[in-house]
Amino acid sequence: MALHVVILAAGLGKRMQSHTPKVLHKLGGEPMLVRVITTAQKLAPAAIHVIYGHGGEHIRQTLGHLEVNWVLQVQQLGTGHAVMQALPQIPDEAHILVLSGDVPLIQTNTLQTLLNSFLSSQALSLLVARVADPTGLGRIIRNQAGIIQAIIEEKEADEQQRQINEIYSGICCGKASDFKRWLPQLSHNNSQNEYYLTAIIHLAVKEHHLIQSLVVPHLFEIQGVNNRLQLQQLERLWQQHQAQELLIAGVAIADAQRIDIRGELNCGQDVFIDINCIFTGQVTLGDHCTIGPNCSLTEVTLGNNCHIKANSVLENCHLAEDCEIGPFARLRPGTKLAKGCKIGNFVETKNAVFAQACKANHLSYLGDVSLGKGVNIGAGTITCNYDGANKHQTIIEEGVFVGSNTQLIAPVTLGAYATIGAGSTIRKNVPAGELTLSENKQKTIKGWKRPVKSHKTE
Ligand code: UD1
Ligand code: CA
Repeated sequence: MALHVVILAAGLGKRMQSHTPKVLHKLGGEPMLVRVITTAQKLAPAAIHVIYGHGGEHIRQTLGHLEVNWVLQVQQLGTGHAVMQALPQIPDEAHILVLSGDVPLIQTNTLQTLLNSFLSSQALSLLVARVADPTGLGRIIRNQAGIIQAIIEEKEADEQQRQINEIYSGICCGKASDFKRWLPQLSHNNSQNEYYLTAIIHLAVKEHHLIQSLVVPHLFEIQGVNNRLQLQQLERLWQQHQAQELLIAGVAIADAQRIDIRGELNCGQDVFIDINCIFTGQVTLGDHCTIGPNCSLTEVTLGNNCHIKANSVLENCHLAEDCEIGPFARLRPGTKLAKGCKIGNFVETKNAVFAQACKANHLSYLGDVSLGKGVNIGAGTITCNYDGANKHQTIIEEGVFVGSNTQLIAPVTLGAYATIGAGSTIRKNVPAGELTLSENKQKTIKGWKRPVKSHKTE
């Protein structure tokens, strides 16, 4: 039996007070709708149908590359109406999983359990939860035997029903043939004038269908986002959850409240992460790595035993083992360091490939450069890689020592074991093994006087 996922994402999202459609707002660094789609994809469905409407063009432009079937709901007449838009493209013998684009943190395992419960019973299965504050949510109505009779929306509920704290998550799974029979029977005869998807429960019960329910393992999984406050609160819950998972897995985190993982962070053994670090995209840290406070790592791989000190920013970098970075270092895309390199404070690298044991300890710009083994870059070294139109390469061979305050005007090659005198401007290739420097004559102007401040009369 084929699985068809229907993701509801056509709602207005007015309460976000934003020009960006609600489902494109990011949680954990990713648009909410992308999260839901990615989670759905892990179930290997026959198709994913995304119901879109408001901000439709914007959504399709941003997410057009994703392999989903876009279904336009021209008018937002309710969740039941929304699911109905996808039905013509779903075969009768399929089963349907309904998800919401604004419930971004639903987990694949939970959905798999819901699907299994449906597959073994063939009964409509609802994902539910007990919550402290059910305000605004659909309440699960059970009879005395505990059998589900209906879902009542808050706006339709009486005082007694509002007391119920078992709520519907907005996520359910059932047979396509049942949906095809029930949905056309819905009416919009309610306070919102909407076709409520949740009204199918009543129809199912009338047909003597048994309704199954599954309790969600973590509440954050079914938390919806309607405004920026809820988005921020859910972001914190998600960050805390990720931090807890890492802690349980053996990663030392200084403060689980002060770490942000906007993607996937993989850690080896005995990793330590200090406060206020942000990890974006795919980040991998080897065994015994330490990350100092206030660091930002985006798409980075660290070998074992690397130490990133406070306030360093690394993006699209690959570091082998035993490297030491920062404090205050900036490693830009294309930085590749072999074993045992050191990059110190106020050093910026870009497209920089270092062989083993190179050092650039202070105040340098190293762009479009390759370093052989054991190169030492003095403070204030600058690769002048850009002539205003094109970028050029600097090649520094093994064992070179570059004295402080040196400009290397690319394209240029420094031969192996060359030494560059401090304060040099190097415009031509440098021979191996020799001392090269550009003279910069020192002179003294005798009797010269410092200017004094002029006193303005006003
Ligand atoms: C819905 C459920 C409620 C449940 C809650 C959980 C209904 C009627 N109610 O309420 O029982 O407790 O979710 O979060 O289903 N949408 C469309 N087209 C429409 C209307 C909505 O695509 O015409 C989309 C929205 O963009 C949203 C989702 O469906 O992603 C849910 O709609 P929303 O209006 O937010 O329903 P809730 O009031 O949250
Ligand atoms: Ca909602």
